[in-house]
Amino acid sequence: MGFDGRCILVTGGVSGIGHAIARKCASAGAVVAVADQNEAGARDAAAAITASGSKAVAIRADISDPEDVSWMFTFASALTGRINGMAHCAGIAANRYGTPEEVAEVAAFLLSEAAAYVNGVVMPIDGAFMRSGVIKRNMNPGR
Ligand SMILES: NC(=O)c1ccc[n+]([C@@H]2O[C@H](COP(=O)([O-])OP(=O)(O)OC[C@H]3O[C@@H](n4cnc5c(N)ncnc54)[C@H](O)[C@@H]3O)[C@@H](O)[C@H]2O)c1
Repeated sequence: MGFDGRCILVTGGVSGIGHAIARKCASAGAVVAVADQNEAGARDAAAAITASGSKAVAIRADISDPEDVSWMFTFASALTGRINGMAHCAGIAANRYGTPEEVAEVAAFLLSEAAAYVNGVVMPIDGAFMRSGVIKRNMNPGR
């Protein structure tokens, strides 16, 4: 895939989407910086990637903290001299659907003149609820 020597920074790289992207890019030859507020998790994730023969380093960073973000970019840039790409996946699933009123707010904005510059937006409204495990647990009681 042409990742050799490329530095990819992945925030939220400890679990879920970020982790999958980190593993995918590393296995394709990238040097991956696994950034996450979960320091131990970032170390474990980077170690697992390294153990599989790919290249990864852990960065503890809370992306809501400007100092952490600055440090994260400085550290990741130093790995190969530049950051070639970034997957920004840090976040917290809301674990609920949007309410009809919340969805109406967004829909009204997108239908209004104020959104005349917006094209082709698809608005997810599940708050990552589908991925949260709530449904899985309910389908497999006791697990
Ligand atoms: N998975 C889905 O189906 C889905 C759907 C829509 C949107 N999303 C959104 O995508 C993002 C990632 O989803 P996921 O399912 O991979 O989530 P996840 O909970 O599995 O992983 C999120 C990662 O981000 C890290 N994190 C959280 N806050 C952070 C912070 N302030 N600084 C640094 N790291 C932080 C967590 O420690 C965790 O490792 C979330 O914002 C989620 O709401 C996910």
